[in-house]
Amino acid sequence: MSQPMILCRGLTKTYQKGSTTVTPLEALDLEVPEGQFLALMGPSGSGKTTLLNLLSGIDSPTSGTLEIAGSEIGSLSRGQLTRWRARNIGYIFQLYHLVPILTAFENVELPLLLDSMSKSERREKVESALELVGLSDRMHHRPTELSGGQEQRVAIARALVADPKLLVADEPTGDLDRESATRILELLQALAHEHGKTIVMVTHDPRAADAADRTLHLEKGLLITQP
Ligand SMILES: Nc1ncnc2c1ncn2[C@@H]1O[C@H](COP(=O)(O)OP(=O)(O)OP(=O)(O)O)[C@@H](O)[C@H]1O
Ligand SMILES: [Mg+2]
Repeated sequence: MSQPMILCRGLTKTYQKGSTTVTPLEALDLEVPEGQFLALMGPSGSGKTTLLNLLSGIDSPTSGTLEIAGSEIGSLSRGQLTRWRARNIGYIFQLYHLVPILTAFENVELPLLLDSMSKSERREKVESALELVGLSDRMHHRPTELSGGQEQRVAIARALVADPKLLVADEPTGDLDRESATRILELLQALAHEHGKTIVMVTHDPRAADAADRTLHLEKGLLITQP
Protein backbone atom coordinates (compact mmCIF):
# COMPACT_ATOMS: atom_id res chain seq x y z
CA MET A 1 0.00 0.00 0.00
CA SER A 2 1.25 3.49 -0.73
CA GLN A 3 2.06 5.76 2.20
CA PRO A 4 -0.84 7.82 3.55
CA MET A 5 -0.95 11.56 2.86
CA ILE A 6 -1.63 12.22 6.54
CA LEU A 7 -0.38 10.07 9.40
CA CYS A 8 -0.91 11.23 12.99
CA ARG A 9 0.01 9.17 16.03
CA GLY A 10 -0.73 10.36 19.55
CA LEU A 11 -1.13 13.90 18.27
CA THR A 12 -1.66 16.22 21.21
CA LYS A 13 -2.02 19.98 21.45
CA THR A 14 -2.20 21.84 24.72
CA TYR A 15 -2.35 25.55 25.43
CA GLN A 16 -1.30 27.07 28.71
CA LYS A 17 -3.55 29.90 29.86
CA GLY A 18 -2.19 31.13 33.20
CA SER A 19 -2.51 28.19 35.55
CA THR A 20 -5.01 26.27 33.39
CA THR A 21 -4.06 23.90 30.61
CA VAL A 22 -6.43 23.59 27.67
CA THR A 23 -6.11 20.38 25.65
CA PRO A 24 -7.97 20.86 22.37
CA LEU A 25 -6.49 17.65 20.94
CA GLU A 26 -5.59 14.58 22.93
CA ALA A 27 -3.58 11.63 21.59
CA LEU A 28 -5.25 11.67 18.20
CA ASP A 29 -4.53 8.90 15.68
CA LEU A 30 -5.48 9.61 12.10
CA GLU A 31 -4.59 8.21 8.71
CA VAL A 32 -5.81 9.72 5.46
CA PRO A 33 -4.89 8.17 2.11
CA GLU A 34 -3.84 10.33 -0.83
CA GLY A 35 -6.78 11.61 -2.86
CA GLN A 36 -9.35 11.20 -0.09
CA PHE A 37 -11.94 13.88 0.61
CA LEU A 38 -12.43 13.78 4.39
CA ALA A 39 -15.08 15.70 6.33
CA LEU A 40 -14.48 16.60 9.96
CA MET A 41 -17.47 17.38 12.17
CA GLY A 42 -17.90 18.10 15.85
CA PRO A 43 -19.30 20.68 18.25
CA SER A 44 -17.84 24.14 18.68
CA GLY A 45 -14.62 23.99 20.66
CA SER A 46 -13.97 20.30 19.89
CA GLY A 47 -10.60 21.04 18.28
CA LYS A 48 -11.42 21.06 14.56
CA THR A 49 -9.60 24.27 13.66
CA THR A 50 -6.75 23.29 15.98
CA LEU A 51 -6.34 20.06 13.99
CA LEU A 52 -6.43 21.87 10.63
CA ASN A 53 -3.80 24.29 11.90
CA LEU A 54 -1.51 21.39 12.85
CA LEU A 55 -2.08 19.54 9.55
CA SER A 56 -1.24 22.70 7.64
CA GLY A 57 1.81 23.67 9.68
CA ILE A 58 0.27 26.90 10.98
CA ASP A 59 0.78 25.59 14.50
CA SER A 60 2.99 22.84 15.96
CA PRO A 61 1.90 19.88 18.07
CA THR A 62 2.80 19.65 21.77
CA SER A 63 3.54 15.93 21.37
CA GLY A 64 2.96 13.02 19.03
CA THR A 65 3.99 12.49 15.45
CA LEU A 66 2.59 14.18 12.38
CA GLU A 67 3.68 13.05 8.95
CA ILE A 68 2.42 14.69 5.80
CA ALA A 69 3.36 12.98 2.54
CA GLY A 70 6.06 11.09 4.42
CA SER A 71 7.74 14.11 6.07
CA GLU A 72 7.63 14.57 9.81
CA ILE A 73 6.54 18.19 10.12
CA GLY A 74 5.90 18.33 13.87
CA SER A 75 9.56 18.99 14.52
CA LEU A 76 10.29 21.63 11.86
CA SER A 77 11.35 25.10 12.94
CA ARG A 78 9.02 28.04 12.25
CA GLY A 79 10.99 29.15 9.20
CA GLN A 80 11.19 25.64 7.76
CA LEU A 81 7.49 25.22 8.37
CA THR A 82 6.63 28.44 6.51
CA ARG A 83 8.57 27.29 3.45
CA TRP A 84 7.10 23.80 3.67
CA ARG A 85 3.57 25.20 3.94
CA ALA A 86 3.91 27.39 0.85
CA ARG A 87 4.73 24.32 -1.27
CA ASN A 88 2.49 21.70 0.24
CA ILE A 89 -0.69 23.22 1.65
CA GLY A 90 -3.67 25.12 0.32
CA TYR A 91 -5.86 26.69 3.04
CA ILE A 92 -9.49 27.64 2.35
CA PHE A 93 -11.35 29.78 4.89
CA GLN A 94 -15.04 30.26 5.62
CA LEU A 95 -14.87 33.97 4.82
CA TYR A 96 -12.56 33.67 1.79
CA HIS A 97 -9.90 36.14 3.08
CA LEU A 98 -9.32 37.73 -0.31
CA VAL A 99 -7.42 41.01 -0.52
CA PRO A 100 -10.14 43.56 -1.37
CA ILE A 101 -8.03 45.93 -3.48
CA LEU A 102 -6.66 43.16 -5.71
CA THR A 103 -8.41 41.55 -8.67
CA ALA A 104 -9.25 37.85 -8.77
CA PHE A 105 -6.13 37.33 -10.91
CA GLU A 106 -3.89 39.22 -8.46
CA ASN A 107 -5.33 37.40 -5.43
CA VAL A 108 -4.60 34.03 -7.01
CA GLU A 109 -1.14 35.20 -8.06
CA LEU A 110 -0.14 36.12 -4.47
CA PRO A 111 1.22 32.72 -3.31
CA LEU A 112 3.41 32.53 -6.42
CA LEU A 113 5.17 35.81 -5.70
CA LEU A 114 7.20 33.99 -3.03
CA ASP A 115 8.78 31.81 -5.71
CA SER A 116 11.23 32.92 -8.33
CA MET A 117 9.18 32.37 -11.45
CA SER A 118 8.87 34.28 -14.70
CA LYS A 119 5.88 36.53 -15.17
CA SER A 120 4.59 34.45 -18.07
CA GLU A 121 4.88 31.22 -16.09
CA ARG A 122 2.95 32.86 -13.24
CA ARG A 123 0.30 34.08 -15.61
CA GLU A 124 -0.16 30.60 -17.05
CA LYS A 125 -0.59 29.04 -13.60
CA VAL A 126 -3.02 31.72 -12.41
CA GLU A 127 -5.11 31.43 -15.56
CA SER A 128 -5.32 27.67 -15.35
CA ALA A 129 -6.29 27.79 -11.64
CA LEU A 130 -9.06 30.28 -12.41
CA GLU A 131 -10.18 28.17 -15.34
CA LEU A 132 -10.34 25.09 -13.11
CA VAL A 133 -12.77 26.86 -10.75
CA GLY A 134 -14.82 28.19 -13.68
CA LEU A 135 -13.91 31.87 -13.34
CA SER A 136 -11.92 32.67 -16.47
CA ASP A 137 -14.45 35.39 -17.25
CA ARG A 138 -14.07 37.11 -13.84
CA MET A 139 -10.29 37.38 -13.76
CA HIS A 140 -10.20 41.17 -13.55
CA HIS A 141 -13.03 41.59 -11.07
CA ARG A 142 -12.38 42.69 -7.50
CA PRO A 143 -13.91 40.72 -4.59
CA THR A 144 -16.71 43.31 -4.11
CA GLU A 145 -17.72 42.70 -7.73
CA LEU A 146 -18.16 38.95 -7.13
CA SER A 147 -20.82 36.83 -5.43
CA GLY A 148 -19.92 34.94 -2.24
CA GLY A 149 -19.72 31.68 -4.17
CA GLN A 150 -17.44 33.26 -6.75
CA GLU A 151 -15.25 34.75 -4.02
CA GLN A 152 -14.89 31.28 -2.50
CA ARG A 153 -13.94 29.88 -5.93
CA VAL A 154 -11.24 32.56 -6.25
CA ALA A 155 -10.01 31.54 -2.78
CA ILE A 156 -9.91 27.90 -3.92
CA ALA A 157 -7.96 28.90 -7.03
CA ARG A 158 -5.52 30.73 -4.76
CA ALA A 159 -5.20 27.62 -2.54
CA LEU A 160 -4.52 25.51 -5.64
CA VAL A 161 -2.24 27.67 -7.69
CA ALA A 162 1.03 26.42 -6.20
CA ASP A 163 -0.17 22.84 -6.79
CA PRO A 164 -0.20 21.60 -3.17
CA LYS A 165 -1.04 17.98 -2.45
CA LEU A 166 -3.14 18.74 0.61
CA LEU A 167 -6.05 21.18 0.84
CA VAL A 168 -7.57 22.06 4.20
CA ALA A 169 -10.85 23.93 4.37
CA ASP A 170 -12.48 25.38 7.49
CA GLU A 171 -16.24 25.54 6.85
CA PRO A 172 -15.81 26.53 3.20
CA THR A 173 -19.57 26.54 2.61
CA GLY A 174 -20.55 28.03 5.98
CA ASP A 175 -21.38 31.44 4.56
CA LEU A 176 -22.98 30.38 1.26
CA ASP A 177 -26.50 29.71 0.04
CA ARG A 178 -27.33 26.13 -0.83
CA GLU A 179 -26.74 26.45 -4.57
CA SER A 180 -23.32 28.09 -4.23
CA ALA A 181 -22.42 25.57 -1.52
CA THR A 182 -23.28 22.67 -3.84
CA ARG A 183 -21.04 24.13 -6.54
CA ILE A 184 -18.13 24.46 -4.08
CA LEU A 185 -18.63 20.87 -2.86
CA GLU A 186 -18.69 19.56 -6.44
CA LEU A 187 -15.48 21.44 -7.09
CA LEU A 188 -13.83 19.92 -4.00
CA GLN A 189 -15.00 16.44 -5.10
CA ALA A 190 -13.47 16.99 -8.54
CA LEU A 191 -10.21 18.19 -7.00
CA ALA A 192 -9.97 14.99 -4.97
CA HIS A 193 -11.22 12.49 -7.51
CA GLU A 194 -9.88 13.94 -10.76
CA HIS A 195 -6.81 15.84 -9.60
CA GLY A 196 -5.69 13.59 -6.73
CA LYS A 197 -5.79 16.27 -4.02
CA THR A 198 -6.24 15.13 -0.45
CA ILE A 199 -8.84 17.32 1.24
CA VAL A 200 -9.71 17.78 4.92
CA MET A 201 -12.85 19.87 5.30
CA VAL A 202 -14.37 21.02 8.58
CA THR A 203 -18.11 21.45 8.38
CA HIS A 204 -21.18 21.80 10.59
CA ASP A 205 -23.46 20.90 7.69
CA PRO A 206 -24.35 17.20 7.32
CA ARG A 207 -25.13 17.82 3.63
CA ALA A 208 -21.62 19.10 3.06
CA ALA A 209 -20.22 16.08 4.91
CA ASP A 210 -22.25 13.81 2.61
CA ALA A 211 -20.24 15.14 -0.33
CA ALA A 212 -17.04 13.76 1.23
CA ASP A 213 -15.70 10.20 0.97
CA ARG A 214 -15.48 9.78 4.74
CA THR A 215 -16.66 11.67 7.82
CA LEU A 216 -14.99 11.75 11.21
CA HIS A 217 -16.37 13.33 14.35
CA LEU A 218 -14.30 15.17 16.94
CA GLU A 219 -15.57 15.29 20.50
CA LYS A 220 -13.54 17.20 23.11
CA GLY A 221 -10.28 16.59 21.30
CA LEU A 222 -10.93 12.91 20.62
CA LEU A 223 -11.82 11.36 17.29
CA ILE A 224 -14.89 9.20 17.18
CA THR A 225 -16.18 7.53 14.05
CA GLN A 226 -19.85 7.48 15.07
CA PRO A 227 -21.73 10.71 15.88
N1 LIG B 1 -4.42 29.89 20.81
C1 LIG B 1 -5.18 29.32 21.74
N2 LIG B 1 -4.92 29.49 23.05
C2 LIG B 1 -5.66 28.91 24.02
N3 LIG B 1 -6.70 28.09 23.76
C3 LIG B 1 -7.02 27.87 22.48
C4 LIG B 1 -6.28 28.47 21.40
N4 LIG B 1 -6.84 28.05 20.23
C5 LIG B 1 -7.87 27.25 20.56
N5 LIG B 1 -7.98 27.13 21.91
C6 LIG B 1 -8.99 26.31 22.63
O1 LIG B 1 -8.99 25.01 22.09
C7 LIG B 1 -10.30 24.48 21.99
C8 LIG B 1 -10.58 24.05 20.56
O2 LIG B 1 -10.66 25.19 19.70
P1 LIG B 1 -10.90 25.08 18.14
O3 LIG B 1 -10.80 26.45 17.57
O4 LIG B 1 -10.02 24.05 17.58
O5 LIG B 1 -12.42 24.56 18.08
P2 LIG B 1 -13.35 24.27 16.83
O6 LIG B 1 -13.75 22.84 16.91
O7 LIG B 1 -12.71 24.74 15.59
O8 LIG B 1 -14.65 25.17 17.16
P3 LIG B 1 -15.62 26.01 16.17
O9 LIG B 1 -16.57 24.99 15.59
O10 LIG B 1 -16.31 26.94 17.10
O11 LIG B 1 -14.78 26.70 15.15
C9 LIG B 1 -11.23 25.56 22.51
O12 LIG B 1 -11.55 25.26 23.83
C10 LIG B 1 -10.40 26.82 22.41
O13 LIG B 1 -10.79 27.74 23.40
MG1 LIG C 1 -13.12 26.29 14.23
